Amino acid sequence: MKNNELLTQAIRAKKQAYAPYSKFPVGAALLTTSGKIYTGCNIENASYSLTCCAERIAIFKAIAAGERNFTEMAVVANSKRPVPPCGACRQVMSEFFEPTMVIYLANAQHQLITMTMEDLLPFSFDASDVTK
Ligand code: THU
Repeated sequence: MKNNELLTQAIRAKKQAYAPYSKFPVGAALLTTSGKIYTGCNIENASYSLTCCAERIAIFKAIAAGERNFTEMAVVANSKRPVPPCGACRQVMSEFFEPTMVIYLANAQHQLITMTMEDLLPFSFDASDVTK
């Protein structure tokens, strides 16, 4: 898939953000190996720590729909630089994404950085570390 389509969907998802506190809307779009796209936006809460990021919403929607295999993700925000996913999202991403999976990070000025999962979270804590 062209990253354009994924970025377009992420920009569209950003419009659905519920971000009355930070006023920092974020959109994400996740492509499955079967070609389906799942989108997410950040959803904030008056109890701030209950906020969930756009990336995790997209991943959780896909997982809850039975998806397990992903090829690309795009994340967009109105940030000065292409938006860096937070640490919590990187850990959730690493649970489901291969180290080689490509993630597009962008901002509203169409600046784009392409990274792999391994770039975003090297030496990650994973299932093999939990095994006794
Ligand atoms: N946020 C995301 O949704 N994704 C990111 O990659 C960075 C941060 C959200 C969480 C919160 O609603 C707002 O941006 C400000 O931190």
